[in-house]
Amino acid sequence: MARKFFVGGNWKCNGTTEEVKKIVSTLNEGQVPPPDVVEVVVSPPFVFLPLVKNLLRPDFHVAAQNCWVKKGGAFTGEVSAEMLVNLGIPWVILGHSERRQILNETNEFVGEKVAYALSKGLKVIACVGETLEQRESGTTVEVVAAQTKAIAERVSNWADVVLAYEPVWAIGTGKVATPAQAQEVHFELRKWFHANISPEVAATIRIIYGGSVNGANSKELAVQPDVDGFLVGGASLKPEFIDIIKSAEVKKSA
Ligand code: 13P
Repeated sequence: MARKFFVGGNWKCNGTTEEVKKIVSTLNEGQVPPPDVVEVVVSPPFVFLPLVKNLLRPDFHVAAQNCWVKKGGAFTGEVSAEMLVNLGIPWVILGHSERRQILNETNEFVGEKVAYALSKGLKVIACVGETLEQRESGTTVEVVAAQTKAIAERVSNWADVVLAYEPVWAIGTGKVATPAQAQEVHFELRKWFHANISPEVAATIRIIYGGSVNGANSKELAVQPDVDGFLVGGASLKPEFIDIIKSAEVKKSA
């Protein structure tokens, strides 16, 4: 299968210049599978993007954690897709549940952001995921399908999109989805693409898992057939991120 394993590190709102330099030097020294086996993208806060881009090994890439929904202008505090392109930042994370929940980003708003970022040439890690309440009421698939549909209504080319399934109840809680739980939702999402977009997109889009991934649980998740990688929060700030990247080898031999 032609889906290259993808490991993203979402540093969220963490780090000082010194800490960022330390993380980057750990990454730069890490022994990981070659770029034809795994694609690695780390996402520092905006203010550290140029620093990380300059210091980071060339086989790893950087992502912003957000960008504005339209062309830049009088939008105090925002960062535009054009600026990211200007700085040579190839990726952006959009629709993270922390922004959906805390900043009230709607499915439609996220869809517009994804479409605009893609139109400017950025590659997008688009996040979807259900809350604990939604899971317990049995609406998980419905929720992630609606989130994906709002993107699909505005996007026609999926080549530059990685979809991150991140159940909200698993984020930062240490309560990782079981391999079976992750596989089930990834399978349902791929089925959704097959039915609503095309068999080609369903077969090629990378669907990655996020939520309490660490060096100890990544291998058993990686081996699931519809899990194409990870979006890692807390553990991406630690040396164990290298072990998570190495779980791509499991996939290769699977
Ligand atoms: P944790 O790995 O800290 O649970 O965070 C996951 C996440 O939100 C990545 O975007």
